[in-house]
Parts: sequence; C-alpha cells; structure tokens
Amino acid sequence: MPQRYSLAAIALHWLIAALLAFQISVGWALEDLGARGFSLFQLHKSVGISVLALTLLRVAIRYWKPRPARLEGGWQGMLASAVHFGLYIFMIGAPLTGWALVSTARVKVPTLIFGAIPLPHLPLPIASHGAAESAHGLLAWVGIALFLLHVAGALRHHLLMRDGLIWRMMPARNPVLLFALPALIVVGLVIGKAILPAPAKTQAPATAIMNEAEETLAPGTTENTAVNAADPADNAAVAVKDEPIGPPPAWAVQPGGRIGFSLGNGGEAISGSFGKWSAKIVMDPAHPQSADIKVMIDLASASVGDAYKDGMITGDEFFAVATHPTATFTAKGAEKAGTNAYRAAGTLNLKGLSKPQTIRFTLSGVGKTRKVSGSATVARGAFGVGNGDSSAGLDAKVAVTFVFSAKTE
Ligand code: HEM
Ligand code: HEM
Repeated sequence: MPQRYSLAAIALHWLIAALLAFQISVGWALEDLGARGFSLFQLHKSVGISVLALTLLRVAIRYWKPRPARLEGGWQGMLASAVHFGLYIFMIGAPLTGWALVSTARVKVPTLIFGAIPLPHLPLPIASHGAAESAHGLLAWVGIALFLLHVAGALRHHLLMRDGLIWRMMPARNPVLLFALPALIVVGLVIGKAILPAPAKTQAPATAIMNEAEETLAPGTTENTAVNAADPADNAAVAVKDEPIGPPPAWAVQPGGRIGFSLGNGGEAISGSFGKWSAKIVMDPAHPQSADIKVMIDLASASVGDAYKDGMITGDEFFAVATHPTATFTAKGAEKAGTNAYRAAGTLNLKGLSKPQTIRFTLSGVGKTRKVSGSATVARGAFGVGNGDSSAGLDAKVAVTFVFSAKTE
C-alpha cells in the first residue's frame, strides 16, 4: 500500500477543488449579469464541463492507481467515505445539472467550450428546465456543506489525532504545501469574483440632484412597467433572467444627430446645441443592464447662434473650455422605464467635476438601426457652470435633449 495518493490523484484533487470554488463564485453572479455576462456564461460552462471531464478521469485513476489504505474504521471511517462519495456526486452532478439546464432553456444558446469545441444540447424535455435549474443551485450548497465536513475531518486528523493523514493528499511533507494547496481554493474564489464585470448601476441615491421632471415621470414609469409585465409578447423582464444569446451589440452613431440644451433666463429661453460630439454605445435593448455608454462632447462647439454669447459660454464663467475642453457622460448599465423607454444612472464629468447624472431615453425602430431620443436635466451649479454675475438670472437647471440614429453590425 502506498503512503499517499498518486501524484495524478493529488494534482486532480487540488485542481478540481480550485475550479469548483471558481465556478461557485462566478455562478452566483451570472443571474444578475444579463447580456454583459455573455462571455462569463461561456466561461462558466467551459470550466464546468472541464470539471466533469477531470472528475471522470480522477474516478478512473482511483481504480487504476493504488490508494493508501483507510486509516480509520468505525463510524468515523464510514462518515469520511460517505462525505467523499457525496463530494463525487457534487463534482459530477453540478456540471450535469448545469448542462441539463442549458439544454432545456426556452432559448437555446449554443456553447463553445473555451471558444473552440461545440457542446451539444442534451436531449431532455423543456419541462425539466425548472428542476435542472433548482438542482444546479442546490447542489452548490450541498457541495459547500460536504466541503465543510470534509475540511473539519481533515483538521480533526491533523490537529487532534496528529496521524499525518493530510500528507496523503500532498505531494511532499512540506509545510508550505499545507497552506499553499488549500489556498488554491481561495484563489479560485477570488479570481471568480475579480473577473466579474463592474456591477450595473441601479438608481443610486446620489441621483437626488435630479429634478422634478424625473419625479413627475415616475408614476407613468410604474404604469408602463406594469403594462409590460402583463403583456406576454414583451418578455424583456423574463429575458433578463435568461442566459444572454450573444454579447451586447455595439452601436455606431450616424451623422445628423443633435445634442441640444436650453435653460430659462428670466422669462425667456436660451437654447443651443453642441456641434461636435461622439459616443460609444454598447447595449442589448432586451438586456438594458448590458449597457455601456460613453458620450464625449466638445464644449468649444457649443453655440446658441450668437457669436457674443457663444464666446461667453466657452469662457471661464461657463464651460472654461481652455482648461476643460470635453464633457463626458459615462454609464454602465441602464434600466427599463417603460415600453422602449430606459433610464441610465451614470456620471457626468463637466468642468473638471464628476457628479452622478441620470439620462432618460427611448429607442424606436427594430433591427439594425434605432432612433435614440432622450433627455437629461443637469444641475449646472454643481459643476460650477455659470458661477459669475452675468448668470444671476439663469435657471439652475439646464434641459439637455438628444436625438440621433445608431446602427449595429
Ligand atoms: C463544475 C460545476 C459547476 C458548479 C459548481 C456550478 C455552480 C453554479 C452556481 C452556484 C450557480 C448559481 C445558481 C443560482 O444562482 O441559483 C450556477 C449557475 C449557472 N450555471 Fe453552473 N456550475 C457548474 C457547472 C455548470 C455547467 C457545466 C454549466 C453548463 C454547461 C452551467 C451552467 C450554468 C448556468 C446557465 C447558470 C445560470 C442559471 C441560472 O440562471 O440559474 N454550470 N452554477
Ligand atoms: C482545504 C481543503 C481540503 C483539504 C484539506 C482536503 C484534504 C483531503 C485529504 C487529506 C484527503 C485524503 C483522505 C484520506 O486519505 O482518507 C482528501 C480526499 C478527498 N477529497 Fe479533499 N480536501 C480539501 C478539499 C476538497 C474539495 C473542495 C473537494 C471536492 C469538492 C475534495 C474532495 C475529496 C475527495 C472526493 C476525496 C476522496 C479521494 C478518494 O479516495 O478518491 N476535497 N481530501
């Protein structure tokens, strides 16, 4: 009888342990990611199928390479064996239920393992989707519980019984390994968390600088959402929970769009537009949380159609373009605010200051071209825009409106 497990069994034990930790860490985040998680879904499925293959290899090696004799008999020995058996069920069951849940989804998303090998769908009835999904989530908890029992057993042997059992799962009696190998599990967990995309911003309390227009919009919004949920044809709310079909598409802004602004000036209105701006937009309208929006506005291009006033706007009292030539709005994630209506809470960087800023927009059209129109209300004082004498009569809030067409590949 050997003193320890074969090197192959030891390597697989620790590799699979680390991969499982990674899977759980990523798995728990998947549901909330929507389309932004497309590549992560693919990775989770690829690593999961690898765990299945590695576990089958490990079970084969178990019968092929001799293992050390059982150290303990009695109920403790039986418990240890039962936990090991349970862990194997988890290592095989988690990937199988994952594979089953993907195979029975309403919308069948193809899986390419590590971008190379297509994974066929298992021939299972769609009706078993719910069961597969519940079992998949539940098995993770079963695995965690068994893992805790397993580690408690290992610690009992190591610290209380001091029988050297733990070294049977280590390639050498080296105290560094005693910490380094279990640490791989923590590494798996941490990598799983570290590769998650930044969370989609939901309505942050900081958007309080937003305006009455936002508040007056709110009741309509709720109504719209209710209508949406009642309409079986509009399954956007359901789609968010599903695995995304593809990465969110990128949209190229077409020439001819406009970003305008207007504000009251003691009874009359001043309005104008920015001649030069650009935007980078990634968003799947069915999964608005996938949105990644960046708009860059060349402030020197601001014009109200009056050369004298234009000179003032670009000067220090207003945009100070000499020191801050560009205003940037960025948002990661948007949310539905009605049929075709969205709201994105992001950040506006203007005159060197970054503040929370919400924009609202609607999308019309279908297919590869959409018309985007929307608005935002900017509290100019928060950015120090109009901080001098000549601004005294100006409204504190500036209405920004935009309309443009965007095209995807
Ligand atoms: C190696 C073992 C695996 C582990 C430990 C694991 C773990 C998890 C966990 C903890 C979740 C979150 C469940 C929840 O939120 O209730 C999850 C979700 C998911 N897993 Fe896995 N997984 C594994 C393998 C796989 C495989 C092989 C596939 C597909 C081929 C897969 C597909 C999915 C999908 C699509 C989801 C999201 C489904 C949902 O919305 O509940 N998983 N996984
Ligand atoms: C800190 C974490 C861990 C430690 C210290 C540890 C330690 C050990 C030790 C010492 C053995 C050999 C037991 C014996 O000789 O009787 C063993 C076996 C085993 N471990 Fe772990 N383990 C850890 C994590 C895991 C994880 C995460 C899994 C899987 C989910 C796992 C699955 C197994 C299985 C299935 C066996 C039985 C091997 C066989 O006889 O085929 N272990 N572990």
